[in-house]
Order: sequence, then C-alpha cells, then structure tokens
Amino acid sequence: MDHVEHSSLQGMDTLVKWRRQFHRYPELGFEEVETSNFIRDVLLKLGLKEVRNVAKTGIEAIIRGKEKGPTVMLRADMDALPFQEETNTTYCSTVNEKAHLCGHDAHMAMLLGATKILMDEEIEHGNIKIIFQPAEEGLAGAKSMIRDGVLHNPDVKAIIGLHVDPSMPSGFISVCPNTCTAYSDRFELKVIGESGHAARPHLTVDPISISGEIISALQQIVSRKVNPLSSAVLTIGKIQGGHAKNAIAPSVKIEGTIRTFSRENREMIVKYMDQVTKGICEGFDANFELKLIEGYPPVINDPNLIPLLDKVSKGVLGENKMSIVEPSMGAEDFAYYTQKIPGLFYRLGTSNSAETSYPLHHPKFNIDEGALPLGAATLAQCALNYLQLFTITRQDTVLMNH
Ligand code: NI
Repeated sequence: MDHVEHSSLQGMDTLVKWRRQFHRYPELGFEEVETSNFIRDVLLKLGLKEVRNVAKTGIEAIIRGKEKGPTVMLRADMDALPFQEETNTTYCSTVNEKAHLCGHDAHMAMLLGATKILMDEEIEHGNIKIIFQPAEEGLAGAKSMIRDGVLHNPDVKAIIGLHVDPSMPSGFISVCPNTCTAYSDRFELKVIGESGHAARPHLTVDPISISGEIISALQQIVSRKVNPLSSAVLTIGKIQGGHAKNAIAPSVKIEGTIRTFSRENREMIVKYMDQVTKGICEGFDANFELKLIEGYPPVINDPNLIPLLDKVSKGVLGENKMSIVEPSMGAEDFAYYTQKIPGLFYRLGTSNSAETSYPLHHPKFNIDEGALPLGAATLAQCALNYLQLFTITRQDTVLMNH
C-alpha cells in the first residue's frame, strides 16, 4: 500500500485548530468533559458510526473494514497538567494552574487527523479502533480504559501510540525496541524519634541525624547492590522535619522515587531500603514507617512491530528519519496496554526553534505545529500497514491448509 498523502488532511489548518482548541481549555485527569464532548463531535462529523464513552471521560470509536480481519488500536491521551503555563502564545491556556504542557493536546489533534485520513481510505480487512484516554498523568487512565473493555469487542490485536518529543527536530521519529520506560514507584519514609531540648540530645532520639545516616546509606543500594550492567535510580526528592533550631524534631519525612527496568531490581531495592533503614533505626533507638506507592510499569514495545514503523517512517517522512534509542527512566501508562497486547509506542520530534525546545512539563513547553500532520500521517499509516501485514486472507488460509 502506498503511503498516505498529507494532502488528505487538506493542509494542516484543521489539525492546528483542534490542537489550539484543546490547548486553550485544558482539563485534568478524569475531568476532561469538554475535551471529550469536542472529540465526540468531531468523530461524529467525520462520519464514525460507533462512538462510545468509556472510563468516565474517555472515548472509543471503531472504523470497520469491508471484510473480517484483525483489529488494531490507536491511542491518544487527553489530560492536562496542574501547572501554570508561561508561554505568550495567542492560544495560551485560559485556565489558571492548568495547562497542556505534555503535548496531550497535540496527541488528540493528531489522532483526530489520523481518523480523518483513515475514514477517507478503503479498508479491506480488519478494523481500526480509536481511543482517547483520560488521566495519563498519574491516575492510570489506561487501567480504567482496559477495565471498561476497550481491548475487546472486537478483540484488539495490537496498540499503537506516540508521544511528542521536544528534544528531537520535527520530521523525525524515534523508538526504543523492547522495554522503553521504567517501573516508576514512589516511597514515603517516616523516621520517628523522641523530641526534646536541643542542648540535651542524650535524652532524645534525633530523627534528623539518623535520617542523615539513612540517606547516605540508601545511596549505596544502587551503587553497591544493583548490577552495574543494569540501571536503576533511587532519588530522594523531599525531606521535611523539625520545627525549631533549639529542639530535637519528633520525626522526619523522606520522599522519593525508585526507577527500575526489571521486577528483580525493583524488589531488591525495596528489600534493602527496608533492611538498611531498619538497621540504622534500631542502632539509634528510632522507629520508622516505609510505604511504597506503586507507579506505572514499563512500556514494552513488541520488537515485531519495529520494522512496521521503519517502513512507515520511510514512506511518510523519508529515508533516515527514524532512530533507535535507549530506554528512558520516564513513565507512561501506555504500559498497561502493553502488558495485555503487543504495543508500539514511538516519539515524534516537535522542535524547530528555541521556543519549541523546552522539555515536557516545563511551563514554557510548546511544539512546532508543523509536526502535527506528520504525527497524524504516521499513526494512520501504522494502522493501515498493520492490517495489511497481519491480515490472513482467504488465499493464505488455503495455502496454509495445504
Ligand atoms: Ni505525556
């Protein structure tokens, strides 16, 4: 099948219009009511017959081919971040302390664009499911989508999604085969001492000095216990304790994050955190409470889908536009789908200036909108190529039976 012409989007005006609409009116996880209504309207206008609400504010729609075949799913996330935007664009967020600073506005616009392209195509075999998922930022909207049955009726054989990447120029994509993001867990550690007068420390248990020992010791877990050939991060990002300079604090609260690529490392780090903290606390008569808050598991790409993306990249973007990259320590709830079905998650370059080079989640984050048609076209073409590659036609079945 030839690659999809960008002209089928009739320029990029519509994509920009959609993206700016989402951008002006950001909504947080599971509150994407207006966003959801807008998407629904566009899908109905594009001629989709089966559009249903899922996972509170999510949307699922189906484009059915003429004949039976596999179902492939395209996904975009919908939620904004609870941050103040600091760009000076005409389409800047109109809501205080809420903004699309992770590009989910662009993801939705591109998926609508891909849907438009696909509606203009003749799909011979199989189906394409289009899903708009709420609450990617920390609330695991993907889990709710799965619970609401998006992987069934008809059974979905593979899922494809993308994320904008301001560290890469527009016109390029990148992908990491296999495991591409980390387990992202948080921890809360409370070191409990015995407060008293600062001048009589021997009559107290000082959780601040004990916490100092614990913080140093925890750093040794990654450097001394994790195999140097595998990667892990243990970061303490927050520490709070004490009320006055002349009093021993009653307790100290330490919070941080653990990033790992394997279940073994994850379990091992937590085990040593508990063991080391226990040892130090016991040594100095303190108590502690350690709480682990499980985050997203890793996104795992199906290596069989990498050649498909390579072909799409060559067709839509040109030669040498796709790079194979290392895993990232970031997290993405696309992971939950890839635990159930083969997945392909790639990054789309969206930078062409200083204004479009700020990292994700930065208050000045913005994208080169010229990348929108490329995202839409690659998504659409991935779905079409998937159906073409993985459809077992009647002819093939006959051959297989012989
Ligand atoms: Ni994001």
